[in-house]
Amino acid sequence: MKPTNKILAFSGSTRKASFNVKLLNLAVAAAQEHGAQVTHIDLREFPLPIYDGDLEATSGVPENAVQLRELLLTHDGLLIASPEYNGSVSALLKNTLDWCSRPANGVEGLAPFRGKAVGLMAASLSPFGGLRGIIDLRGIMAKMGAVVLAEDVAIASAQNAFDPTDAFVDSNTAKLVDQFTSNLIGLVAKLHPNTDASKVER
Ligand SMILES: Cc1cc2nc3c(=O)[nH]c(=O)nc-3n(C[C@H](O)[C@H](O)[C@H](O)COP(=O)(O)O)c2cc1C
Repeated sequence: MKPTNKILAFSGSTRKASFNVKLLNLAVAAAQEHGAQVTHIDLREFPLPIYDGDLEATSGVPENAVQLRELLLTHDGLLIASPEYNGSVSALLKNTLDWCSRPANGVEGLAPFRGKAVGLMAASLSPFGGLRGIIDLRGIMAKMGAVVLAEDVAIASAQNAFDPTDAFVDSNTAKLVDQFTSNLIGLVAKLHPNTDASKVER
């Protein structure tokens, strides 16, 4: 499958009023303004059972995980916003990553993640902005063969970070996210120089 210089964006929370979805929406818009091609998906549209080795042995990898793997395989960068639950990544996100790491259709398990440029963000109610979740996710993504951008975005006190139009209250936060997305696009282009880099603004 031919990779393209595209970014796949998703949130580790599917809650309707999710602060991470608001953050992701703004980061996606910023990335698009920088010229990136972004596919923004909602994990609610890819429901998966909790990973179970017996289920996999009897029924194979669920169709939704196979579809997600196809999407991952056709993108060179990932943009993830996820809440921190009890000091780590959300179960939704971890379960999705676990299913997507399983071999399917003759493709090796971690192929969808290897060499992918990944930008990590979090929004949380706490003053730490979900940073502990980001740190754990950094380790998980690295273990799966991805290349995680050095910079990340952690939005503290997320209940106060967005205005009624879902824009950032603080213009400095908007600048931070803008720079972060620009850096992610730069990393995608660096890691995948032969895949449509002309569309990337640096
Ligand atoms: C089970 C659970 C555990 C949580 N643990 C943490 C935590 O460890 N650190 C934190 O900053 N916020 C924690 N929170 C609060 C989340 O920051 C808050 O629910 C946030 O709004 C979730 O993200 P969302 O708005 O994108 O859904 C927790 C929330 C839940 C439901």
